[in-house]
Amino acid sequence: MRLRASPNPWKTPLLILVLGMVPAVPGIFSTIAILQNAQPGHPLADLVQPRYLAAPLPILTHIIGGIVFCAIAPLQFITKLRVRYPQLHRIAGRIAFAGGFVYALTALPLLFDLPPDEDALKNWGLGFSGVAVALCLGLSLWHAIKRNISAHQLWVCRAIAIGLAGATRAVLEILAFAIPVEHSPVQEGIIMWLGMSINLAILEYYWRKRRRPRKAA
Ligand code: HEM
Repeated sequence: MRLRASPNPWKTPLLILVLGMVPAVPGIFSTIAILQNAQPGHPLADLVQPRYLAAPLPILTHIIGGIVFCAIAPLQFITKLRVRYPQLHRIAGRIAFAGGFVYALTALPLLFDLPPDEDALKNWGLGFSGVAVALCLGLSLWHAIKRNISAHQLWVCRAIAIGLAGATRAVLEILAFAIPVEHSPVQEGIIMWLGMSINLAILEYYWRKRRRPRKAA
């Protein structure tokens, strides 16, 4: 079954652009801070944790992979570009996949540096999302090779929904601060899992809606 064309072809690329900007924009500043070895007193020192300056390679690899993915992913959803320049779509897709795998898999060693007990629920969520993004990208690639384009698109959307859940988490965190209860690591953990679940639920809803055949007028 073919997907229904979206009435607004810019909606999905713009949404992915906004979702990607949430981690990518701070990522650009963190990269500059790390590359300039921003010690206390440097204008960007507050943007970077001292342990990143001591061992910059894992975090730099993670952030640069993430920026590459976030920059290319929205372009891949511009239908006109994809149809007119299929070769460009393929090349950009390979670069985005590489960036995606790199950021998802480098998230795992970064987790070992985080406090293990206090934020266990959140850390498990981060670990789960790293593995899930890599799996979704792998399945998406597999379907692209098999020319099963609808499944390829769905799995790449799932990778985006899970990996770029930071914007949804930010909204939930603002809402949580409005509620007069004591804030705890458990609350952060719940927000971590809720952010991913909400994104996935919205994606699955819209995906199924787009697959439904249009009723005859
Ligand atoms: C599956 C998705 C992702 C997971 C599981 C993940 C995981 C992590 C982890 C564990 C850290 C270390 C946190 C710390 O040291 O306190 C981190 C830091 C960071 N990540 Fe990601 N990440 C993901 C996606 C992304 C993406 C797409 C970007 C885009 C560029 C990104 C940018 C960053 C940045 C800028 C930092 C440093 C934050 C800071 O200064 O504390 N991440 N990430």
